[in-house]
Amino acid sequence: MPATIILGGLWGDEGKGKLTDALSSSATMVVRANGGSNAGHTVVAPQGKFKFRLMPSGILNPNCICVLGAGVAIELPTLIAEMDDLLSRGIDVSNLRISDRAHLVLPWHRALDQLEETRREQDEIGTTLNGNGPTYADKASRHGIRVADILRPEILRRKLAIELDSKNQLLASVYGAEGYEFESLYRDLTGWADRIRSHVIASEVVVQDELAKGANILIECAQGAMLDIDYGTYPYVTSSSPTAAGACQGAGVAPTQIDRVIGVYKAYTTRVGGGPMPSELTDDVGELIRARGNEYGTVTGRPRRTGWFDAVAARQSARLNGVTDLNIALVDVLDVFETVSMCTGYQFPDRVMNHVPALLDDLEGAAPIWEEYAGWNSDTTNIESWEDLPAEVHSYLAGIEQKLDTRVTYVGVGPAREQLIQRS
Ligand code: GDP
Ligand code: IMO
Ligand code: MG
Repeated sequence: MPATIILGGLWGDEGKGKLTDALSSSATMVVRANGGSNAGHTVVAPQGKFKFRLMPSGILNPNCICVLGAGVAIELPTLIAEMDDLLSRGIDVSNLRISDRAHLVLPWHRALDQLEETRREQDEIGTTLNGNGPTYADKASRHGIRVADILRPEILRRKLAIELDSKNQLLASVYGAEGYEFESLYRDLTGWADRIRSHVIASEVVVQDELAKGANILIECAQGAMLDIDYGTYPYVTSSSPTAAGACQGAGVAPTQIDRVIGVYKAYTTRVGGGPMPSELTDDVGELIRARGNEYGTVTGRPRRTGWFDAVAARQSARLNGVTDLNIALVDVLDVFETVSMCTGYQFPDRVMNHVPALLDDLEGAAPIWEEYAGWNSDTTNIESWEDLPAEVHSYLAGIEQKLDTRVTYVGVGPAREQLIQRS
């Protein structure tokens, strides 16, 4: 029963989609575990370039069943638009399965996301405004409406009436905002329900049946471990658990059924939205990394903040997630540098900090401690084997391995599916 978790090691956009797509050729199932349409997972394959938000990144592989697990927050119009886009490009989506336990992102969640960000003013989180925070809040406070609910008109009518009433009151009284009208929302939801009905399943049963056959399954996380609601840079985090533990929970897989956890990291660091990023570079080097890595949000188009590899945060996330293998992606972005640096500690006047603290105030004034590596200053994008990588790349990756105490198994040298070097 081999199950492999693919998770982001830092603040998202590490290249999880690319790895999931590449490894899906040797899997029978890909289960998306957490997050919602806040994710944007890019896959560059012979069929073209895809930016998946809810669709599991194994969908291009016709032999792979693609499951949206119970931990995913599903915004149906986005999912249906993705299905339609894929169909129009000749991609079959009949392999899509949707957990009947997954919570729905409803129109008021998106509205509340925006209204809350506005209320926070300069302390805004910088969310993707896709309604994920309010959806997970409703889930935790047991106000959520789930996929199973909308398949049964009488249940939907009852739950929607209760929720709409309280949400309209909240919108009006706290935010002075417009509410929603029952009948049109009910009509929309039943229409969307008809569209997805044939895909809905008890995903935890289907996933466990697959594991019982001894099949190889992948669990695809969204976001990154440093955006985790418990262990990330709170409150500048997402509202789900993009960790190995969260992957198990969201996918319906037990911890004892996991045999590999692949931590996907960039060869440098990026972050989009607010919150601390100790290794951030606001100079020409950061700008060059942004330009070479095309570091603009897959969903929002926002410029991503860039910096050198933060080995402190990366080590923390590798340990927390029991990462067994590293995928160091976008190594080619660093092809032009004479030297490449890595942040190995957070320096204060009187001490060095070697972890990301709970109180972000405690990071204020921290200066990164840099460790320098010789750059390789050569084009890596056509390299196909580990042995052919320049010696300087080997030294840099050995540095990461030593700091994270984990082996590098995959190296990304370009966005395309085949630009992934697997070390034997
Ligand atoms: P995800 O959210 O973790 O799936 O990552 P995103 O798709 O949001 O962002 C990763 C970006 O880097 C995408 O534009 C990918 O096409 C691209 N990418 C992934 N791996 C590599 C790589 O090894 N080299 C280069 N140059 N681009 C890559
Ligand atoms: P993938 O799966 C990068 C960030 C947002 C914001 C914070 C909270 O593509 O790696 P949210 O909308 O979740 O309430 O926003 O989390 N964020 C991401 N950053 N990649 C993502 O997804 C992200 N999903 C959320 O920018 O800082
Ligand atoms: Mg992304």
